[in-house]
Amino acid sequence: MNFSILRTHEELGQWREEQRAEIILVPTMGCLHSGHSRLIEVARTCEFNKKELVVLVSIFVNPLQFGPDEDFKTYPRGLEKDIELATAFGANALWAPSTDQIFPKGPKSHFQIQVPKSLTSYLCGQSRAGHFDGVATVVLRLLTLVKPRMLVLGEKDWQQLVILRALLKDLDLAIKIKSVATVRDKDGLACSSRNQYLDASERLMAQSLPKELSNAVASYKNQKGINIPTIKSSLEQNGLKVDYVELLDPQFLQPIKQNKNLALLAAAVRCGSTRLIDHTFLMTRNPIVAIDGPAGAGKSTVTRELAKKLGLLYLDTGAMYRSVAWILKENEIDPQNEEAVKKILKTFDLELKQAHDKSIKVIVNGNNISNSIRSPDITALVSFVAAQKVVRDFLTTQQQKIGLKGGLVAEGRDIGTAVFPDAELKVFLTASTGERARRRVLDLKNQGFFKSEINEVEAQIKERDRLDSTRSISPLVKADDAIELITDGMNINNVVIAIEDLFRERIPEEVWPTPG
Ligand code: PAF
Repeated sequence: MNFSILRTHEELGQWREEQRAEIILVPTMGCLHSGHSRLIEVARTCEFNKKELVVLVSIFVNPLQFGPDEDFKTYPRGLEKDIELATAFGANALWAPSTDQIFPKGPKSHFQIQVPKSLTSYLCGQSRAGHFDGVATVVLRLLTLVKPRMLVLGEKDWQQLVILRALLKDLDLAIKIKSVATVRDKDGLACSSRNQYLDASERLMAQSLPKELSNAVASYKNQKGINIPTIKSSLEQNGLKVDYVELLDPQFLQPIKQNKNLALLAAAVRCGSTRLIDHTFLMTRNPIVAIDGPAGAGKSTVTRELAKKLGLLYLDTGAMYRSVAWILKENEIDPQNEEAVKKILKTFDLELKQAHDKSIKVIVNGNNISNSIRSPDITALVSFVAAQKVVRDFLTTQQQKIGLKGGLVAEGRDIGTAVFPDAELKVFLTASTGERARRRVLDLKNQGFFKSEINEVEAQIKERDRLDSTRSISPLVKADDAIELITDGMNINNVVIAIEDLFRERIPEEVWPTPG
């Protein structure tokens, strides 16, 4: 494989022109280690809209992100070794610009980005004034010069990752961020170029940082809570000087709200003269994704695909309502007869079994009814059954029981509002009535019904929306904290990718790794 070493704008520009593939950038400050090797490895397996990608590693020790008393001058540098490692790790090119190339008039004379206070008021933002402004400024500069499609960043620098995501979003830059879980050495220490500064005894002391964090995870799991002063004093007792230990909302970097499932516990310490950072995530259960929206928005297909991609259980709430419709029909019970419905539901034992091919088997009272619930009779009955309060209350409780451990994605009308109001990600999936009518007509055509009039179908959809959102029991409403995704003009794959990106903004790879 050809490996290119680039230094100037001209060399970078020429290399860009030669590429037939999209560029994926792995920005670094050099002194490459196993953490970077993992970033490059992940970059090599990424794809963008099914296009091939080439991996460019940049090496630039950015003066703007070091404070006056920090280690800019002594920061470890070694280009020869980095070239060797980047080649061995499988990058396609390495770009090592000089400071003049990045900041022609000098770093201080260059325009600078100011990161919003809300993202820097805790963690390193507090103790390293101007650091993240420097990071954002240089990354934006690297991006304008390289023009990549994707950027690979480590979760090790969690605050940096959150800030850079916000930067790309606020500036509407169509560049995707792929995050990679922290890589640790055998002794538990998170890989960092600054670990080089530690001598043997400091290295031993430093190990108490990841140890204290994993003790906190264990204590949290055993419902013993988190005691920040105790963590601080244990670190100090081990010879580390604590800069901060903080418990925050990982997405907003602000104090965590009471009922949130996922928390970031992060710490910075000084070990001798070396500053080290590390973090962990605390969770009471695995993540939950709630997808709600009107009929015809493509929810089922999207939810099934998303579950497969993220290794989540697909909680098919539609199948659950169909199963109740099935048992009522089998026993000739009128869905409006509350007493009879309540009685039969007492004997209703529903099991959703995930088969090897990830399809869901629906077992009711020991009978596999996966096929029967898809019959036209049940289809005709299900929305009527699903509108009965007794049925909704019963199935909501069942769904919440299944959701106790999390690790699932569920789709419906009231998942984000009634069933899992504490879901980490709520998506309200919708499309204009015109688009939904177009899709419906296409479906009907595929099924051999060629005569459907698009205007008529659109009118039916509008009427169904009106009924769904005004009915008294579980009306279709968007949860306040749901993200609305309008899918006009998007194919299934792009919708799934968009939701996956929203998931990753909330759930780190460290907590829920992408399978495969
Ligand atoms: O994480 C780093 O190595 C640096 O902060 C970055 C993103 C390369 C910007 O200088």
